[in-house]
Amino acid sequence: MTLDIDWDNLGFEYHKLPYRYISYFKDGKWDQGQLTEDATLHLSEAAPALHYGQQAFEGLKAYRTKDGSIQLFRPDCNAARLQATADRLLMPQISTEQFIEAVKQVVKANQDYVPPYGTGASLYLRPLLIGIGDVIGVRPADEYIFTIFAMPVGAYFKGGLMPTNFIVSEDYDRAAPFGTGAAKVGGNYAGSLLPGKAAKASGFSDVIYLDPATHTKIEEVGAANFFGITANNEFITPLSPSILPSITKYSLLELAEKRLGMTVIEGDVPINDLGQFVEAGACGTAAVISPIGGIQYRNHLHVFYSETEVGPVTRRLYDELVGIQVGDIEAPEGWIVKVD
Ligand code: PLP
Ligand code: COI
Repeated sequence: MTLDIDWDNLGFEYHKLPYRYISYFKDGKWDQGQLTEDATLHLSEAAPALHYGQQAFEGLKAYRTKDGSIQLFRPDCNAARLQATADRLLMPQISTEQFIEAVKQVVKANQDYVPPYGTGASLYLRPLLIGIGDVIGVRPADEYIFTIFAMPVGAYFKGGLMPTNFIVSEDYDRAAPFGTGAAKVGGNYAGSLLPGKAAKASGFSDVIYLDPATHTKIEEVGAANFFGITANNEFITPLSPSILPSITKYSLLELAEKRLGMTVIEGDVPINDLGQFVEAGACGTAAVISPIGGIQYRNHLHVFYSETEVGPVTRRLYDELVGIQVGDIEAPEGWIVKVD
């Protein structure tokens, strides 16, 4: 089959692929789930997902290796995070086994759309868990849909490995101190649309959010976690109960320490101390590692390594992470799951 896809120039856009997975929860249990060609969901007008935001999602990727095989990066971590999010929103958990099996089915069924090795593109998978059924009071649903669809994607932030600038939001927070910031729920993103639009209109890639209680420490980026590199070979990233625990970030913490010999620190990152960093980046499944050229805070643009060139440590982290994801570099035990 020949596909009319320009693999080298893919952005982060929706593409309707032939197959997706769908499973229904009813009478207290999940059904077996199956692949379907129907890309639409049919649900009650009273579904709690629509009214009260009882929904969660995930994001992970399938990668084509040099020998043409396909592999997943730490899908068990996405399953575990979806379980934690489900607990927070009183939704039924999907077992890790059902999650990984469903991901594999979707990847295999759409395997022609897994981008070729060497293009930098990958197959993005979007698991989605929603409360459905007829509910109008504020209470959890009795019925749920779990679906996974997929699409080939390239860079999320336009620069790729070229640095871009980000802007601090002081007028809006993405999460409340004891809210749902650590859960991957749509409501966190709905609230970020307005500040995100303003940031993009001013030429920034995304917003940097501060801790909602004091507005003195960096929390994370609208669609990724934050890290900074110091001249003392330290990898520093915010620790907060209201940021999304990024699987990419925890992978980088391990790689920075064990493979790059860096000192790794999860802790406070004061917005008034950006000068401690010689490099900075945004990390996530969609973002991969996106170097941050500068951060605009109030009326000052603080430039890290360079606005036009990726720094050497960020580059090494990127090479190690992506090398593992595409199978060129040996992964730590259990990080890679083969699809075929
Ligand atoms: N933070 C936010 C708000 C995100 O949307 C994402 C994307 O998933 C991340 C961080 C990165 O998380 P992960 O590395 O698990 O994709
Ligand atoms: C991801 O990296 O998977 C995300 O969810 C980020 C964004 C597309 C919401």
